[in-house]
Amino acid sequence: MNVNLISDTVTKPSKGMLDFMLNASVGDDVFKNDPTVNQLELKVADLFGMEKSLFFPSGTMTNQTAIKILTNPGDQLICSKYSHVYNYEGGGVSFNSGVSCKLIDGEGGLFKAKDVYKAINPPDFYHSAKTSLVCIENTTNKGGGACWNVNDLKEIKSVCDENNLFYHLDGARIWNAYVKNGIDFIEYGNLFDTISVCLSKGLGCPVGSLLLCSEKLYEKALKTRKMLGGGMRQSGFLAACGLYALENNIDRLKYDHVRAKEIEEKLLKLDFIKKVQPVETNIIIFELKDTFSSKDLIEELQNKNIEIINMGDNKLRIVTHMDYTDDFHHYFLDSLDKINLKS
Ligand SMILES: Cc1ncc(COP(=O)(O)O)c(C=O)c1O
Repeated sequence: MNVNLISDTVTKPSKGMLDFMLNASVGDDVFKNDPTVNQLELKVADLFGMEKSLFFPSGTMTNQTAIKILTNPGDQLICSKYSHVYNYEGGGVSFNSGVSCKLIDGEGGLFKAKDVYKAINPPDFYHSAKTSLVCIENTTNKGGGACWNVNDLKEIKSVCDENNLFYHLDGARIWNAYVKNGIDFIEYGNLFDTISVCLSKGLGCPVGSLLLCSEKLYEKALKTRKMLGGGMRQSGFLAACGLYALENNIDRLKYDHVRAKEIEEKLLKLDFIKKVQPVETNIIIFELKDTFSSKDLIEELQNKNIEIINMGDNKLRIVTHMDYTDDFHHYFLDSLDKINLKS
C-alpha cells in the first residue's frame, strides 16, 4: 500500500476518463481548430458567465498570463503572503511581468477590503510602485483550503473599482469552494476581470487549466500564451478529460472534504501537534510542537508508505483526493495512532 497525500495533483486519470479521451475529436488548437478544446472553452466560459476562456497547460501559466495582461512593468500587485502567485510560481511575477507584490498577512490566506485599501500605494506619490491588481486565491492552498466569503469578495471589488485596480481570482480549487459553500460560479464571473481554474487538482485530469476573461482581454491572453510557449496542438485529448471531469468529478469532492475533516479530528488528539488550521475543504495544514521535528514525522510516515509534505516553519500539509480511497483512509488514521514521535 502506498498512500500519497502530498497533493491532489497526484491522481491518475480514471478508466472512464481515459475512454472518453480516446474518443475525442481533435484538430490543431494553435489554429483554433480543435473541436474538443473549443467545446471545453465554451463550456467553462458559460459556467462562469464570462465572455471567453482559453485552455492552458498549467495553472501557473494561466496566473502568469493574467498578471501579464493586467499590469505593466514596474507595477505592484496585492496578494496574501500565502498566495501561490507569490510563493510557488518561480518568481514569474517579476520575471514575466516586472511586477512586485505587496503582501497581506491574513489568517488562512484570507483578507478584508480594508487591508486592500491600506496596501494601495498613493497614485500621486511618484516614489512608489503603481498598484494595479489584486489577486485572490479560492480555495487557499498554503492557507489550508480556506474559502472566501462572497461579501468580502464584493467589498474588495468595490475597493478595486474605486481605485482603478484589476481583480484576478486564482481559482485552482474553485470546485472545492463550490462544493463547500454552494456559491455559484456566475457570482465569481460577475466580480473578477480574470479567473484561472485548474482541472488537474481535485478533478483528476492529468493536465489543464483555463483562463476566463472578457472578449477584449482574450486577444491579449492568446498572444501572451503564445509568447510563454503555451500553445498546444491536438490538445483536444486533454480537453476531453476536462469535459469528463466537469460532468463527473465535482460532486464527489464532498468525500475528500469529509475525509479531511476526519483527519483533522484525529490530528487534534495527537500529543505532538500544536495546531491544526481549521479544515474547510480537502487541505489540512498543521503545526508540530516546537520540540518535535517535521522531518522526523515525515520519515516515520514514510516507513509506513505514507507521504505528506513539509511546508516549512514546522508545518506540514496533507491533501485528500480522488485516488485516496476508504482503505487508504482507514490505514492512514490507524497509522497516525501508532506514531511514536520522539522530541
Ligand atoms: C492555488 C494554486 N494556484 C495555482 C497552482 C498552479 O498550478 P500548476 O501546478 O498547474 O501550475 C497551484 C498548484 O498547486 C495552486 O495550488
